[in-house]
Amino acid sequence: MSKEGLKGKRIIVTSGPTREPIDPVRFISNHSSGKMGFALAEAAVDLGAVVTLIAGPTALQPPDGVDFVHFTTTEDLHIAVLEAIENADCLIMAAAPADYRPVRTADTKIKKSDDKLILELEPTVDILKDIASRPLRQRLVVVGFALETDRPLENARRKLLEKKLDMIVLNQVGRDTGFDSDTNQVTVLMPGGDPIVLPLAKKKEIASRVLDMIAGIC
Ligand code: CTP
Repeated sequence: MSKEGLKGKRIIVTSGPTREPIDPVRFISNHSSGKMGFALAEAAVDLGAVVTLIAGPTALQPPDGVDFVHFTTTEDLHIAVLEAIENADCLIMAAAPADYRPVRTADTKIKKSDDKLILELEPTVDILKDIASRPLRQRLVVVGFALETDRPLENARRKLLEKKLDMIVLNQVGRDTGFDSDTNQVTVLMPGGDPIVLPLAKKKEIASRVLDMIAGIC
């Protein structure tokens, strides 16, 4: 792939976890580090793209040359993505949004007692499914990510279809892979194609390989 494989393309990359508040000092979240999304944003800049990086809470420094937007909750992320894709060519959803949020957020810190504390949770919006049904989906390339612990290929294929994606990048959870690791091993699936297994490599190297594939369909 040429160094300019995405020249002038407007690419939106989402990255990192969401936080769903329980009270002013507690939240529901997950182990996403944001490393993969930040590496993808950097790789897209290297290929000449105009990049917006929409990131959840993470200690990482945004790469040079990206337009940086911050989110906290899945709802914030949804709003930021809908605004960003209005003028975009491609959406890369590497963020790990919470699928549930507390029905109520307490205004003050919940004090402990000897009783059980039961949190009532409600589903958040599935952002990719929402986008799949919008007219602008026709002109947008959409790439999703899947993190699976069991029947990975079957589950990733189902997400590819249900979320009407052009590509899904399947992450394996293991010792040298997944959330906070600097390395990763991914399998790329596209509609109608055979799975493409990329070897274990640094997240930056994986990001560059995945971006080369995205450039081929964007
Ligand atoms: N995703 C999304 N909106 C959500 C949850 C996930 O758009 N509320 C996106 C993620 O950014 C990712 C893809 O959907 O690109 C798959 O996310 P994943 O967490 O693997 O799957 P879920 O759809 O949440 O399903 P499950 O948690 O049951 O595996």
